[in-house]
Amino acid sequence: MIELDGVTKFFGNYPAITDITFRVEKGEAVGFLGPNGAGKSTTMKIITAFIPPTSGNCTVAGYNVVTHSLDVRRHIGYLPETVPLYTDMSVKDYLAFMGKIRGMSQQRIRARIPEVIETCRLQEYYNSYVSKLSKGFRQRVGIAQCILHEPDVLVLDEPTIGIDPIQVVETRNLIRGLGGDHTLIVSTHILPEVSMICERVVIIHEGQIVAVDKPENLATRLRGVERVEIDVRGPTKEVMATLKDVEGVQAVERKRTPAGEDFNTYEIETVRGSDLRPQLAAAVVKGGWNLVRLQSMGMSLEEIFLRLTTTEDQPAAVAPATTT
Ligand SMILES: Nc1ncnc2c1ncn2[C@@H]1O[C@H](COP(=O)(O)OP(=O)(O)OP(=O)(O)O)[C@@H](O)[C@H]1O
Ligand SMILES: [Mg+2]
Repeated sequence: MIELDGVTKFFGNYPAITDITFRVEKGEAVGFLGPNGAGKSTTMKIITAFIPPTSGNCTVAGYNVVTHSLDVRRHIGYLPETVPLYTDMSVKDYLAFMGKIRGMSQQRIRARIPEVIETCRLQEYYNSYVSKLSKGFRQRVGIAQCILHEPDVLVLDEPTIGIDPIQVVETRNLIRGLGGDHTLIVSTHILPEVSMICERVVIIHEGQIVAVDKPENLATRLRGVERVEIDVRGPTKEVMATLKDVEGVQAVERKRTPAGEDFNTYEIETVRGSDLRPQLAAAVVKGGWNLVRLQSMGMSLEEIFLRLTTTEDQPAAVAPATTT
């Protein structure tokens, strides 16, 4: 449904994005994740035919964004970073206006407005001036205009930015609800948001794609080592030596023990793809010590994100922050 092939955009001499290639299938919800200035908005503006790429190809529903920009826009609902709302219009009039400039018939506009008002739960604000709405509700008006002309593709640029936590939850639910019928691209730099809304994530950093995968796969793919935490009641030196001797263990480190506890916590790195928990447990028991806890540690999305967006000359910068 959306296809980018080697898309590059220069602003003057500055490459905002370089050689971006990915595709989004029909009905898929893809998260576009990256720090400030990564190139998310630039990529979205190209997809929505607002700015042309310097080089490379981008098509939406089979239409080229440069040669068929009007067809592209007909298929797309776009929520830009800053929504150009006309604050001296009522919600209803604003939506009617947006429908008109998109070439919708009066009849279709009349039929669609109540539908989008309901979808975006704006019933109470039907006749309110946009200027009187809170940020979260303005954002919903932005989403309402996005889906008014029943586009099959939605491009939402940081739809939850600046919204309070309660409205963020509602807005995310709204977006997730839209996901079923639409092909969706949502940009954000809020990591948990991606796994909540999207099936796949494209991580972009300094204008380049650094990873494309399902949120849950990123964790496994990136993990160079498996980490296990183990709490053992027993003499530190012997326990550490024994754990180190288990085949497949690469490193053992003692972590700070919670105050008032009589056991030690160790962090163990093992070779990738191995689950050494049974062997570790057996070694502790064999030593005659108490095994209090044994846990495999996943990598959080935050860690993945940091790892991916940390430059190569600082490898493994995400090595877990050890408490000292
Ligand atoms: N119109 C422009 N003229 C010059 N440089 C631009 C322009 N638009 C974007 N840039 C630059 O391109 C880079 C990518 O910007 P972009 O807005 O795409 O980032 P972003 O990922 O959306 O960031 P944010 O999370 O802050 O919204 C930035 O370095 C930005 O300064
Ligand atoms: Mg942006």
